Amino acid sequence: MRHFLTLADFTKHELLEMISLAQKIKKQTLERKYVPYMQHKTLGMIFEKSSTRTRVSFEVGIYQLGGIGLFLSKNDIQLGRGEPMKDTARVISRMVDMVMIRTFEQSKLEEFAAFSKVPVINGLTDSYHPVQLLTDYLTMIEFHKSENPIVAYVGDGNNMAASWLMLASIMGFELRLATPKGYECDAKVVAKALEIADTSGAKIIILNDPKEAVIGADVVTTDTWISMGKEDEKVKRVADFKGYMVDSDMMQLAKDDAIFLHCLPAYRGYEVSDEVLEAHADAVFSEAENRLHMQKGIMVWLDAHR
Ligand code: CP
Ligand code: NVA
Repeated sequence: MRHFLTLADFTKHELLEMISLAQKIKKQTLERKYVPYMQHKTLGMIFEKSSTRTRVSFEVGIYQLGGIGLFLSKNDIQLGRGEPMKDTARVISRMVDMVMIRTFEQSKLEEFAAFSKVPVINGLTDSYHPVQLLTDYLTMIEFHKSENPIVAYVGDGNNMAASWLMLASIMGFELRLATPKGYECDAKVVAKALEIADTSGAKIIILNDPKEAVIGADVVTTDTWISMGKEDEKVKRVADFKGYMVDSDMMQLAKDDAIFLHCLPAYRGYEVSDEVLEAHADAVFSEAENRLHMQKGIMVWLDAHR
């Protein structure tokens, strides 16, 4: 049995298998063929943080695969009143076939997985957002940006940045990651990415200058400056991230046919300008839609490896 806790849990070959499953199921779905790959299976979906995309895509995804999703908000289950994660895991995993969790510390997710009888999927933690990044790669393939691309990530060294590090190092492409001083990615995650990059041929470049990152890039991406749980730091962060907004001037530095990606939700006027987001709406909202298709690929793959 395999869990999907970070991209580094898998080889490039395995991740590409999930992507090709997603592509096949996406094609079927767009032809309105709903093949019941997971008939009668139940996905438990535990949310300790808010969500629009993750909730809707997993719930619709499992339904279209012939199963059912249970939305379990922290406030509605005993976890929110202090029932331990390990007990929650032992109870829920005896009743469902797969679990997706959105929580704070990666260690809480790992604890759940250690006690779970069924595969566990990371639906975002403070450390990583791996389902989003595999989706972003699927979107890069669709927009013809997956052959040796240069990707520039401009912004906070958060869960998205860490996941871009994992994706780039495993897939073997060039990632330039520009964060303000004091907002760099965790040094251990960078070290791990560099170690993986040694064998994959990826080029990982860590910077503090967003413009240097974006020059000649094929894909430019960013994420909110104020992740869930960081709301109290908003005033300081907005000041510290001055000069990091991806606006038209910044996009001009990228290749002429560069695309812009954003996991959403986007905060216009902060990490991205309205103009850039609207100009790249096709890529950004395809990226959002692809959450549905990519996660079906992940669920079917995990189900087949039990
Ligand atoms: N990108 C993403 O995970 O969005 P939600 O927070 O809405 O799920
Ligand atoms: N970095 C953001 C991603 C939201 C999908 C957060 O953790 O809030």
